[in-house]
Amino acid sequence: MSVLVTGGAGYIGSHTVRALRERGVDVVVLDSLELGNRAAVSDAPLEVGDIADTALVRRVVHDYGVDAVIHFAGYKAAGESMLRPGRYFDNNVARSAALLAALHLSGVSRIVFSSSCAVYGSPRSLPVGEDHPTAPESPYGASKLMVEQMLDWYRACHGLAWVALRYFNAAGAADDASIGEVAERSTNLVPVALRAALGQIPALQVFGSDYPTPDGTAIRDYVHVVDLADAHVRALNHLREGGAPMVVNLGTGTGSSVLEVVAAARRASGVDFPVELVARRPGDPVAVYADNARAGAVLGWHPTYALDAIVSSAWRWHVTHPDGYPAAAAVA
Ligand code: WQD
Repeated sequence: MSVLVTGGAGYIGSHTVRALRERGVDVVVLDSLELGNRAAVSDAPLEVGDIADTALVRRVVHDYGVDAVIHFAGYKAAGESMLRPGRYFDNNVARSAALLAALHLSGVSRIVFSSSCAVYGSPRSLPVGEDHPTAPESPYGASKLMVEQMLDWYRACHGLAWVALRYFNAAGAADDASIGEVAERSTNLVPVALRAALGQIPALQVFGSDYPTPDGTAIRDYVHVVDLADAHVRALNHLREGGAPMVVNLGTGTGSSVLEVVAAARRASGVDFPVELVARRPGDPVAVYADNARAGAVLGWHPTYALDAIVSSAWRWHVTHPDGYPAAAAVA
């Protein structure tokens, strides 16, 4: 029995592939390499192609004896999705629909899905629990919610077993700094701050310093990618053991402000990089952090990295890979 990991050459996907392999789980990766990196997949076969290629998906399921899927493949930039919504409905929704249909035809009935706290929009109450109403504020968040709904219809109609993991702010890198997030493609706070520390950009822009928070900057729940990877292994085991379908928040439950992340990035790098206070970014909620009780109760998942450890691990990756993965490895 193998697990098919779509998007396994991407950021969270590659850390999850590693976590699965470390626990002796057989894995096959399906990734288009549009945004993923071949070099991020070390210890598993990589099939290069599209999740909407039904013949390819059916062949991979057959050839590798796939009994479960962890589905990461998709776009993840909420801001970009406001400018190019069609890309998100095509890549995240339509291609997931094609994938689910192919998996159903192939008899695969377990799927762990990479979802997002973006399904909640601006929370009405904190911390945000899974029962908080969903009200996405971007096509990206809407695309994740639509796939969750498709999964539940496949459950109702065909008995699909699924878990949707709603990540809060993923950050950090593998402890040995061998895999991580490619910073130049990211608009997320931790990689951008560390690019400022490396001198790759002149300053970190802080989007909004007049929020109603203790230091005036927005609050998020930063969770280590290695902790996220561990949760996927637990969700897979949950499904293989016949566990119930459900959505699960993956956050630490602790909110950190942008300026607290800046301070952690300065400590980790030892560089007092410049910060520029600029206007709020449209669409940014004031504060978002998770109620993660369900992940603990059902999956036995407890995050192990706090903010400084998250940012330090990201720094070790960025300082050793300032340009991401080596170009030669990316095309090898
Ligand atoms: C964090 C904070 C910015 C960059 C993203 C996804 C969302 C979700 C979580 C996954 C905000 C501020 C940022 C910069 C800044 N999960 N910031 N300067 O927007 O919270 O959410 O991750 O799917 O769907 O969109 O993450 O890292 O962009 O921002 O001041 O250069 O840092 O305003 O308050 P965000 P982020």
